[in-house]
Amino acid sequence: MIINYAHRGASGYFPENTMLAFKKALHLNATGLETDIQITSDGVLVILHDELVNRTTNGHGFVKDYTYTELRKLDAGSWFRKDYKNLKIPSLEELLEFVKDKNIQLNLELKNNIVLYNNIEEKVIDMIYKYNMENNIIISSFNHYCLKKCKEISKAIPIGALYKAGLYEPEKYAKHLDADALHPYFYAIKNSSIIKKIKASGIKINTYTVNEENHMKFFIDNHVNGIITNYPDKLSKLLS
Ligand code: G3P
Ligand code: MG
Repeated sequence: MIINYAHRGASGYFPENTMLAFKKALHLNATGLETDIQITSDGVLVILHDELVNRTTNGHGFVKDYTYTELRKLDAGSWFRKDYKNLKIPSLEELLEFVKDKNIQLNLELKNNIVLYNNIEEKVIDMIYKYNMENNIIISSFNHYCLKKCKEISKAIPIGALYKAGLYEPEKYAKHLDADALHPYFYAIKNSSIIKKIKASGIKINTYTVNEENHMKFFIDNHVNGIITNYPDKLSKLLS
């Protein structure tokens, strides 16, 4: 069964990476949630795509310079639509609390590229075990040193290597990294023979961000393991 990952929640319809976007994603038949992790100045794991709060809140500056209490005062919804002004930036714990009793796959993307957060790997893995989510999770990142560190901390937690452009023999690279999955931008693997080779080597494929039906169809027909989309309802229709 292909996992239908809602990218930052149902971000095509609701403000990305808010609890509303995650809850609605499940109503729209997502079977997985993809989200992005950053850390506040006082060490709290929070959910936000950008290192800066500027684009998706009424605040300014870096997440790393806000305490969690300060961050919670920001409005994370109005930028999308005025009546969403009461939405907050969630903590990772809030999301885990919400998904822990549900049969949902979680893809936690560690945003450890622009700001190098201290011990983000240990912190996230501790939290995964605290909520017994180790069997329903995959950690991904564009920072593959960060992924390798995750694997060294816990071999049991799957890791997926994010990349944007056409890697040569990505399955070999995945093995070298000890990765369980590749998370390519969809144009980097929109080629049946590349997909076949990756799959034959036992490496999984979760591709992002697939929003158009013709692209969705291609990846369904080519049996990838997961599709990350802003529109889980569209994908769900094609999957059923
Ligand atoms: O994890 C897939 C995708 O979210 C990676 O890119 O920038 O949307 O976090 P980005
Ligand atoms: Mg992401």
